[in-house]
Amino acid sequence: MGKYILGIETSCDETAAAVVRDGREVISNVIYTQIPTHTLYGGVVPEIASREHVLKINQVIKKALADAKLDWKDLDAIAVTYGPGLVGPLLIGVSTAKALAYAKGIPLVGVNHIEGHICANYLMEKNESDNSEAVAPPYMCLVASGGHSHIVRVDDFTKYTIIGRTHDDAAGEAFDKVARAIGLGYPGGPKVDKLAREGNPEAIQFPRASVGDSPYDFSFSGIKSAVLNYLNGAEMKGQEVNKADVAASFQQAVIDVLADHTIKAALDHGMKTVALAGGVAANSLLRETMKERAEAKGLRFHCPELIYCTDNGAMIASAGFFEYEEGRRADLYLNAIPNLKIGER
Ligand code: KG4
Ligand code: ZN
Repeated sequence: MGKYILGIETSCDETAAAVVRDGREVISNVIYTQIPTHTLYGGVVPEIASREHVLKINQVIKKALADAKLDWKDLDAIAVTYGPGLVGPLLIGVSTAKALAYAKGIPLVGVNHIEGHICANYLMEKNESDNSEAVAPPYMCLVASGGHSHIVRVDDFTKYTIIGRTHDDAAGEAFDKVARAIGLGYPGGPKVDKLAREGNPEAIQFPRASVGDSPYDFSFSGIKSAVLNYLNGAEMKGQEVNKADVAASFQQAVIDVLADHTIKAALDHGMKTVALAGGVAANSLLRETMKERAEAKGLRFHCPELIYCTDNGAMIASAGFFEYEEGRRADLYLNAIPNLKIGER
Protein backbone atom coordinates (compact mmCIF):
# COMPACT_ATOMS: atom_id res chain seq x y z
CA MET A 1 0.00 0.00 0.00
CA GLY A 2 2.44 2.63 1.22
CA LYS A 3 1.79 6.15 2.42
CA TYR A 4 0.58 8.79 0.01
CA ILE A 5 1.55 12.41 0.70
CA LEU A 6 0.27 15.42 -1.22
CA GLY A 7 3.01 18.07 -1.43
CA ILE A 8 2.18 21.74 -2.03
CA GLU A 9 4.80 24.33 -3.02
CA THR A 10 4.24 28.08 -3.55
CA SER A 11 7.31 29.73 -2.01
CA CYS A 12 8.38 31.67 -5.10
CA ASP A 13 7.29 31.60 -8.74
CA GLU A 14 6.07 28.02 -9.23
CA THR A 15 2.62 26.86 -8.17
CA ALA A 16 3.17 23.15 -7.67
CA ALA A 17 1.52 20.05 -6.22
CA ALA A 18 2.43 16.38 -6.37
CA VAL A 19 1.60 13.01 -4.85
CA VAL A 20 4.53 10.87 -3.70
CA ARG A 21 4.40 7.36 -2.24
CA ASP A 22 6.64 6.55 0.73
CA GLY A 23 8.81 9.61 0.13
CA ARG A 24 10.31 8.24 -3.06
CA GLU A 25 7.88 7.19 -5.77
CA VAL A 26 6.42 10.12 -7.70
CA ILE A 27 2.79 9.29 -8.53
CA SER A 28 1.95 12.70 -10.01
CA ASN A 29 3.80 16.00 -10.37
CA VAL A 30 2.08 19.20 -11.53
CA ILE A 31 4.01 22.45 -11.92
CA TYR A 32 2.52 25.71 -13.11
CA THR A 33 5.44 28.07 -13.71
CA GLN A 34 4.93 31.82 -13.57
CA ILE A 35 8.25 32.51 -15.35
CA PRO A 36 6.63 33.97 -18.52
CA THR A 37 4.74 36.50 -16.36
CA HIS A 38 7.78 37.61 -14.34
CA THR A 39 9.99 37.73 -17.46
CA LEU A 40 8.07 40.88 -18.41
CA TYR A 41 9.51 42.58 -15.31
CA GLY A 42 13.02 41.07 -15.35
CA GLY A 43 12.52 39.19 -12.06
CA VAL A 44 9.95 37.84 -9.62
CA VAL A 45 7.41 40.46 -8.50
CA PRO A 46 6.14 39.14 -5.13
CA GLU A 47 2.66 40.69 -5.33
CA ILE A 48 2.07 39.34 -8.82
CA ALA A 49 3.39 35.93 -7.74
CA SER A 50 0.87 35.84 -4.86
CA ARG A 51 -2.00 36.66 -7.19
CA GLU A 52 -0.98 34.01 -9.70
CA HIS A 53 -0.73 31.41 -6.91
CA VAL A 54 -4.29 32.28 -5.80
CA LEU A 55 -5.54 31.82 -9.35
CA LYS A 56 -3.81 28.49 -10.00
CA ILE A 57 -3.46 26.63 -6.72
CA ASN A 58 -6.82 24.85 -6.70
CA GLN A 59 -6.45 23.66 -10.29
CA VAL A 60 -2.90 22.48 -9.71
CA ILE A 61 -3.87 20.47 -6.61
CA LYS A 62 -6.93 18.97 -8.33
CA LYS A 63 -4.79 17.89 -11.27
CA ALA A 64 -2.16 16.35 -8.97
CA LEU A 65 -4.87 14.16 -7.39
CA ALA A 66 -6.53 13.36 -10.73
CA ASP A 67 -3.20 12.42 -12.38
CA ALA A 68 -2.47 10.16 -9.40
CA LYS A 69 -5.96 8.62 -9.77
CA LEU A 70 -6.45 9.14 -6.06
CA ASP A 71 -9.17 10.56 -3.88
CA TRP A 72 -8.77 12.72 -0.76
CA LYS A 73 -9.47 9.68 1.43
CA ASP A 74 -6.40 7.92 -0.03
CA LEU A 75 -4.03 10.59 1.29
CA ASP A 76 -2.11 10.04 4.54
CA ALA A 77 -1.00 13.66 4.88
CA ILE A 78 -0.75 17.04 3.22
CA ALA A 79 2.74 18.56 3.25
CA VAL A 80 3.23 22.25 2.54
CA THR A 81 6.22 24.59 2.25
CA TYR A 82 6.01 27.17 5.07
CA GLY A 83 9.44 28.77 4.53
CA PRO A 84 11.84 30.07 3.52
CA GLY A 85 10.51 32.13 0.63
CA LEU A 86 8.37 35.14 -0.21
CA VAL A 87 5.80 35.72 2.51
CA GLY A 88 2.78 36.38 0.24
CA PRO A 89 3.35 33.35 -1.98
CA LEU A 90 4.09 31.12 1.04
CA LEU A 91 0.85 32.18 2.71
CA ILE A 92 -1.22 31.07 -0.29
CA GLY A 93 0.14 27.53 -0.03
CA VAL A 94 -0.04 27.41 3.77
CA SER A 95 -3.62 28.67 3.99
CA THR A 96 -4.78 26.37 1.18
CA ALA A 97 -3.14 23.36 2.83
CA LYS A 98 -4.64 24.23 6.22
CA ALA A 99 -8.12 24.64 4.73
CA LEU A 100 -7.87 21.30 2.92
CA ALA A 101 -6.44 19.47 5.92
CA TYR A 102 -9.25 20.79 8.10
CA ALA A 103 -12.07 20.23 5.60
CA LYS A 104 -10.94 16.72 4.62
CA GLY A 105 -9.67 15.65 8.04
CA ILE A 106 -6.14 14.89 6.82
CA PRO A 107 -2.95 15.40 8.91
CA LEU A 108 -0.87 18.46 7.99
CA VAL A 109 2.93 18.64 7.89
CA GLY A 110 4.96 21.83 7.45
CA VAL A 111 8.07 21.51 5.25
CA ASN A 112 11.22 23.61 4.96
CA HIS A 113 11.73 24.46 1.27
CA ILE A 114 15.50 23.90 1.36
CA GLU A 115 15.09 20.51 3.04
CA GLY A 116 12.59 19.78 0.26
CA HIS A 117 15.27 20.53 -2.34
CA ILE A 118 17.58 18.05 -0.61
CA CYS A 119 14.85 15.37 -0.54
CA ALA A 120 14.52 15.69 -4.33
CA ASN A 121 17.47 13.28 -4.31
CA TYR A 122 15.16 10.49 -3.07
CA LEU A 123 12.59 10.87 -5.85
CA MET A 124 12.09 8.24 -8.51
CA GLU A 125 9.61 7.81 -11.31
CA LYS A 126 6.53 5.68 -10.72
CA ASN A 127 7.13 1.94 -11.23
CA GLU A 128 10.90 2.36 -11.17
CA SER A 129 11.52 -0.97 -9.56
CA ASP A 130 15.33 -0.89 -9.66
CA ASN A 131 16.16 0.67 -6.34
CA SER A 132 19.91 0.20 -6.57
CA GLU A 133 20.39 3.90 -7.29
CA ALA A 134 18.44 4.99 -4.22
CA VAL A 135 20.30 7.52 -2.10
CA ALA A 136 20.22 7.38 1.68
CA PRO A 137 21.90 9.45 4.41
CA PRO A 138 24.57 10.16 5.44
CA TYR A 139 25.90 12.25 2.54
CA MET A 140 27.15 15.76 1.80
CA CYS A 141 24.76 17.90 -0.21
CA LEU A 142 25.35 21.15 -2.05
CA VAL A 143 22.14 23.17 -2.06
CA ALA A 144 22.33 26.02 -4.55
CA SER A 145 19.26 27.96 -5.59
CA GLY A 146 18.16 31.51 -6.30
CA GLY A 147 18.04 32.38 -2.62
CA HIS A 148 20.41 29.89 -0.95
CA SER A 149 23.85 28.35 -1.21
CA HIS A 150 24.72 25.88 1.50
CA ILE A 151 26.79 22.79 2.01
CA VAL A 152 24.67 20.56 4.20
CA ARG A 153 25.63 17.30 5.88
CA VAL A 154 22.54 15.13 5.68
CA ASP A 155 22.81 13.02 8.84
CA ASP A 156 19.42 11.39 8.49
CA PHE A 157 16.21 11.87 6.45
CA THR A 158 15.17 14.72 8.77
CA LYS A 159 18.50 15.74 10.33
CA TYR A 160 20.73 18.35 8.76
CA THR A 161 23.94 20.11 9.76
CA ILE A 162 25.08 23.21 7.88
CA ILE A 163 28.78 22.91 7.03
CA GLY A 164 29.18 25.88 4.69
CA ARG A 165 27.19 28.91 3.56
CA THR A 166 27.44 31.97 1.37
CA HIS A 167 28.48 35.24 2.96
CA ASP A 168 26.65 37.35 0.37
CA ASP A 169 24.84 36.40 -2.87
CA ALA A 170 23.41 32.94 -3.52
CA ALA A 171 24.89 31.10 -6.51
CA GLY A 172 21.63 31.31 -8.50
CA GLU A 173 21.38 35.01 -7.73
CA ALA A 174 24.87 35.53 -9.21
CA PHE A 175 23.78 33.65 -12.35
CA ASP A 176 20.67 35.84 -12.59
CA LYS A 177 22.60 39.11 -12.11
CA VAL A 178 25.33 38.23 -14.59
CA ALA A 179 22.69 37.13 -17.10
CA ARG A 180 21.00 40.50 -16.77
CA ALA A 181 24.33 42.32 -17.19
CA ILE A 182 25.07 40.55 -20.47
CA GLY A 183 21.51 41.08 -21.67
CA LEU A 184 20.15 37.55 -21.36
CA GLY A 185 17.19 38.38 -19.12
CA TYR A 186 15.39 36.37 -16.45
CA PRO A 187 15.71 33.61 -15.34
CA GLY A 188 19.43 33.84 -15.88
CA GLY A 189 20.71 30.40 -14.87
CA PRO A 190 19.43 28.32 -17.79
CA LYS A 191 20.37 31.07 -20.28
CA VAL A 192 23.96 31.39 -19.00
CA ASP A 193 24.19 27.57 -18.99
CA LYS A 194 23.19 27.45 -22.68
CA LEU A 195 25.32 30.38 -23.91
CA ALA A 196 28.37 29.15 -21.96
CA ARG A 197 28.47 26.04 -24.15
CA GLU A 198 29.54 28.27 -27.07
CA GLY A 199 32.23 30.11 -25.08
CA ASN A 200 35.73 29.50 -23.77
CA PRO A 201 35.77 29.00 -19.98
CA GLU A 202 39.42 30.04 -19.86
CA ALA A 203 39.03 33.25 -21.85
CA ILE A 204 38.75 35.50 -18.79
CA GLN A 205 40.14 34.80 -15.31
CA PHE A 206 37.41 35.65 -12.79
CA PRO A 207 38.28 35.23 -9.08
CA ARG A 208 37.59 31.95 -7.22
CA ALA A 209 36.87 33.56 -3.90
CA SER A 210 37.21 31.88 -0.54
CA VAL A 211 36.13 33.65 2.60
CA GLY A 212 37.44 34.05 6.10
CA ASP A 213 38.67 30.98 7.89
CA SER A 214 36.06 28.52 6.66
CA PRO A 215 37.17 26.39 3.71
CA TYR A 216 33.53 25.49 3.04
CA ASP A 217 31.96 28.96 2.85
CA PHE A 218 31.22 30.88 -0.34
CA SER A 219 31.24 34.45 -1.59
CA PHE A 220 29.79 35.18 -5.00
CA SER A 221 29.52 38.97 -4.93
CA GLY A 222 33.25 39.25 -5.82
CA ILE A 223 32.84 37.14 -8.96
CA LYS A 224 29.71 39.06 -9.90
CA SER A 225 31.49 42.43 -9.44
CA ALA A 226 34.47 41.21 -11.45
CA VAL A 227 32.13 40.38 -14.34
CA LEU A 228 30.43 43.79 -14.10
CA ASN A 229 33.85 45.54 -13.99
CA TYR A 230 35.00 43.57 -17.00
CA LEU A 231 31.89 44.59 -18.96
CA ASN A 232 32.21 48.26 -17.92
CA GLY A 233 35.93 48.29 -18.75
CA ALA A 234 35.28 46.87 -22.20
CA GLU A 235 32.51 49.38 -22.83
CA MET A 236 34.70 52.33 -21.84
CA LYS A 237 37.46 51.16 -24.15
CA GLY A 238 34.91 50.62 -26.91
CA GLN A 239 35.84 46.91 -27.10
CA GLU A 240 33.46 44.27 -28.35
CA VAL A 241 32.56 41.75 -25.63
CA ASN A 242 32.29 38.06 -26.43
CA LYS A 243 29.24 37.25 -24.31
CA ALA A 244 29.67 33.50 -24.66
CA ASP A 245 33.21 33.77 -23.26
CA VAL A 246 31.98 35.91 -20.36
CA ALA A 247 29.19 33.41 -19.60
CA ALA A 248 31.56 30.42 -19.84
CA SER A 249 34.33 32.02 -17.74
CA PHE A 250 31.89 33.23 -15.07
CA GLN A 251 30.15 29.86 -14.90
CA GLN A 252 33.48 28.03 -14.63
CA ALA A 253 34.58 30.26 -11.73
CA VAL A 254 31.35 29.67 -9.79
CA ILE A 255 31.35 25.94 -10.44
CA ASP A 256 35.00 25.45 -9.50
CA VAL A 257 34.25 26.91 -6.07
CA LEU A 258 30.94 25.05 -5.57
CA ALA A 259 32.39 21.69 -6.58
CA ASP A 260 35.72 21.97 -4.75
CA HIS A 261 34.24 23.15 -1.45
CA THR A 262 31.56 20.46 -1.49
CA ILE A 263 33.98 17.65 -2.25
CA LYS A 264 36.42 18.88 0.39
CA ALA A 265 33.58 18.97 2.93
CA ALA A 266 32.57 15.42 2.01
CA LEU A 267 36.10 14.06 2.34
CA ASP A 268 36.85 15.95 5.57
CA HIS A 269 33.63 14.61 7.13
CA GLY A 270 34.20 11.04 6.01
CA MET A 271 31.20 10.93 3.68
CA LYS A 272 31.03 8.40 0.84
CA THR A 273 28.41 10.21 -1.22
CA VAL A 274 27.93 13.76 -2.48
CA ALA A 275 24.68 15.10 -3.88
CA LEU A 276 23.31 18.23 -5.51
CA ALA A 277 20.06 20.09 -4.87
CA GLY A 278 18.29 23.34 -5.78
CA GLY A 279 17.73 25.21 -9.04
CA VAL A 280 21.45 25.58 -9.82
CA ALA A 281 21.75 21.77 -9.63
CA ALA A 282 20.06 21.87 -13.06
CA ASN A 283 23.27 23.39 -14.47
CA SER A 284 24.78 20.96 -16.96
CA LEU A 285 28.42 21.88 -16.26
CA LEU A 286 27.92 21.70 -12.48
CA ARG A 287 26.44 18.20 -12.84
CA GLU A 288 29.32 17.02 -15.04
CA THR A 289 32.04 18.68 -12.95
CA MET A 290 30.72 17.37 -9.64
CA LYS A 291 30.44 13.87 -11.04
CA GLU A 292 33.97 13.89 -12.44
CA ARG A 293 35.67 15.43 -9.42
CA ALA A 294 33.67 13.36 -6.90
CA GLU A 295 34.34 10.07 -8.67
CA ALA A 296 38.04 10.97 -9.03
CA LYS A 297 38.14 11.06 -5.20
CA GLY A 298 36.27 7.79 -4.87
CA LEU A 299 32.98 9.43 -3.87
CA ARG A 300 29.59 8.40 -5.17
CA PHE A 301 27.73 11.24 -6.87
CA HIS A 302 23.97 11.78 -7.07
CA CYS A 303 21.75 14.52 -8.43
CA PRO A 304 17.98 14.74 -8.87
CA GLU A 305 16.37 14.50 -12.32
CA LEU A 306 16.25 17.97 -13.91
CA ILE A 307 12.52 18.39 -13.31
CA TYR A 308 13.05 17.90 -9.55
CA CYS A 309 15.92 20.43 -9.29
CA THR A 310 13.81 23.54 -9.70
CA ASP A 311 10.81 24.13 -7.44
CA ASN A 312 8.21 21.34 -7.40
CA GLY A 313 5.67 19.69 -5.12
CA ALA A 314 7.21 16.21 -5.23
CA MET A 315 10.26 17.23 -3.20
CA ILE A 316 7.93 18.77 -0.60
CA ALA A 317 5.88 15.57 -0.44
CA SER A 318 9.08 13.56 0.03
CA ALA A 319 10.37 15.77 2.85
CA GLY A 320 6.84 15.75 4.32
CA PHE A 321 6.78 11.94 4.32
CA PHE A 322 9.96 11.67 6.41
CA GLU A 323 8.67 14.32 8.84
CA TYR A 324 5.34 12.47 9.02
CA GLU A 325 7.11 9.21 9.80
CA GLU A 326 8.83 10.97 12.71
CA GLY A 327 5.39 11.87 14.05
CA ARG A 328 5.69 15.57 13.30
CA ARG A 329 2.38 17.34 12.64
CA ALA A 330 1.46 20.98 12.05
CA ASP A 331 -1.69 22.48 13.52
CA LEU A 332 -3.99 25.10 12.05
CA TYR A 333 -1.80 27.86 13.51
CA LEU A 334 0.94 26.99 11.02
CA ASN A 335 2.27 30.26 9.63
CA ALA A 336 4.61 31.26 6.81
CA ILE A 337 8.19 31.87 8.00
CA PRO A 338 10.02 33.74 5.20
CA ASN A 339 13.49 33.32 6.75
CA LEU A 340 13.11 29.75 8.09
CA LYS A 341 16.53 28.14 8.60
CA ILE A 342 17.60 24.62 7.66
CA GLY A 343 16.99 22.21 10.54
CA GLU A 344 14.77 24.73 12.39
CA ARG A 345 11.49 23.30 13.69
O1 KG4 B 1 15.34 26.27 -6.55
P1 KG4 B 1 14.83 27.30 -7.47
O2 KG4 B 1 13.87 26.90 -8.56
O3 KG4 B 1 14.15 28.46 -6.67
C1 KG4 B 1 14.65 28.90 -5.45
O4 KG4 B 1 14.37 28.23 -4.42
O5 KG4 B 1 15.40 29.91 -5.50
O6 KG4 B 1 16.13 27.97 -8.10
C2 KG4 B 1 16.05 29.00 -9.04
C3 KG4 B 1 17.47 29.44 -9.34
C4 KG4 B 1 17.54 30.69 -10.22
O7 KG4 B 1 18.49 31.58 -9.70
C5 KG4 B 1 17.97 30.12 -11.56
O8 KG4 B 1 18.68 31.07 -12.35
C6 KG4 B 1 18.85 28.97 -11.13
O9 KG4 B 1 18.18 28.41 -10.03
N1 KG4 B 1 18.98 27.99 -12.22
C7 KG4 B 1 20.14 27.69 -12.82
C8 KG4 B 1 19.85 26.76 -13.85
N2 KG4 B 1 18.51 26.51 -13.81
C9 KG4 B 1 18.00 27.26 -12.80
N3 KG4 B 1 21.39 28.14 -12.60
C10 KG4 B 1 22.37 27.68 -13.40
N4 KG4 B 1 22.17 26.81 -14.41
C11 KG4 B 1 20.94 26.32 -14.67
N5 KG4 B 1 20.74 25.45 -15.67
ZN1 ZN C 1 13.69 26.46 -4.52
